[in-house]
Amino acid sequence: MPGRGSVDGLEITYFVGIDVGTQGSRALAIDESGSVVASGTAPHEILTPRPSWVEQRPEEWWEAVKESVSLLSEQIDLRQVAAMGLTGQMHGSVFLDADDEVIRPALLWNDQRTVRQTEWMTEVAGDLLLNTALNPAIAGFQAPKIIWLREEEPENYARVAAVLLPKDYVRFKLTGSKTTDVADASGTLVLDVAARRWSPELLDAFDIPAKWMPGVLEGPDVSGHVTEAMAFQLGLPAGIPVAAGGGDNAAAAVGNGIVRPGIVSSSIGTSGVVFAHSDSPDPDPQGRLHTMCHSVPGKYHHMGAVLSAGGSFRWLRDAIFSSDLATLAEGGPSGDDLYDRMAAVAAQAPVGSEGLVFLPYLTGERTPHMDSAARGAFVGLTIRHESAHLVRAVMEGVVFALRDSLEIMKDLGISVEKIVATGGGARNEMWLRLQADILGAPIWRMEVEEGPAYGAALLGAVSVGAFGSVQEAVDAVVRYVDPVEPDASTAPTYARYFDVYRSLYPVLRDSTHRLGELAEG
Ligand code: XUL
Repeated sequence: MPGRGSVDGLEITYFVGIDVGTQGSRALAIDESGSVVASGTAPHEILTPRPSWVEQRPEEWWEAVKESVSLLSEQIDLRQVAAMGLTGQMHGSVFLDADDEVIRPALLWNDQRTVRQTEWMTEVAGDLLLNTALNPAIAGFQAPKIIWLREEEPENYARVAAVLLPKDYVRFKLTGSKTTDVADASGTLVLDVAARRWSPELLDAFDIPAKWMPGVLEGPDVSGHVTEAMAFQLGLPAGIPVAAGGGDNAAAAVGNGIVRPGIVSSSIGTSGVVFAHSDSPDPDPQGRLHTMCHSVPGKYHHMGAVLSAGGSFRWLRDAIFSSDLATLAEGGPSGDDLYDRMAAVAAQAPVGSEGLVFLPYLTGERTPHMDSAARGAFVGLTIRHESAHLVRAVMEGVVFALRDSLEIMKDLGISVEKIVATGGGARNEMWLRLQADILGAPIWRMEVEEGPAYGAALLGAVSVGAFGSVQEAVDAVVRYVDPVEPDASTAPTYARYFDVYRSLYPVLRDSTHRLGELAEG
């Protein structure tokens, strides 16, 4: 195996994945069989200096990565690490000056300040975006953030010498290399996704200097090597390769085995994602689904994104059940246990929540509406509805939103042979039941699910030949077990409710936009 060797007589056998997430950074180590041997997480602070602004300090990501790697060192001998892979939250903008200093806090994927810039981008290059970036202009993506800096902070803009995605800042600190990978670069809006390289036409259209953009590699390519200075700080062997890796969804898909046509994941975390592998780019002509490069070399993926999935459930917990939380605080169940209890209460309400439908657009919506100003709603409330109905309606609404993505995939001819549940929604029987019944298919579980850091560690292992390819790595480590079968008797009712669900956004759109404007004053 290339890259293997021995240090002080120790066989080098571990691969480390680093995930620069939104809540925190996670480091995870696997052995050659793909078993997790160590992991550690350190938190990040989220800054919201104004409503709809979401920022983080890149320097804090780096500190959190160092801390999470030091947690690994308490569990394994880091001198046995042979390679690393990187993943992280997508779309963020790290602005560096000519001395490689961070100019201002990074704008994150869920920052919504750039709506005006996306309107301009659509005006000057709407078709080019759909045909080349294979996505419409979306406020969370990276390019509008660069344009925002130009318009709103010209002094900062004048200092920019490089723009990096979040995990690529960590790569820069580790290796000195300014590089990204094709999957994460797909979330900038200036990548030619089919050609897997920056698009000179899009960069020109938006007047973004090409020299600011990092080099682009395939996920398992070696992007650089850990420098001596960093190796010394972190306790890692100097010179180990760092794989390009992938954005968090693509890397998670590697860990979940979504690397061939036919297997689709349905993920409920804070956001919800329906993810399908694709051998060719073939975008949704209406731009409702994201089409991006995969972390599997030469391959693509389609992704439906629901911005508030578990986020809607958390909102319900905090907004409606917080008094319960207070009473339960002392020695009672924690917030997570309350989630399980809420899900159990939902089971007491009937299919369809007795005529109550919830739209989960609490933070705007991507698939299928691509509308940052979309707003949530309960529709059909009556005096008969109790808390069980509210909870069930929220859960059903989230799964209807996932079904929206799945239906678009089916309409586009994307093969859906097997659905695998991932994220927090895979660990609760009620969420699994609703996915099976509303999506109308068996919902498989992962034998072991470790999230994006695991996929990044596998990409690290592939980068040094521990596995011959990403597919080979997946075949060696991923197992699907114990499917939840759909209850066929619920299908006709859910079909009618889904029909109503789909009819609501178009009629509520204008009113909710106006309410949003009123709320902003
Ligand atoms: C994907 C997306 C999120 C972020 C944060 O398009 O915005 O999944 O990557 O995790």
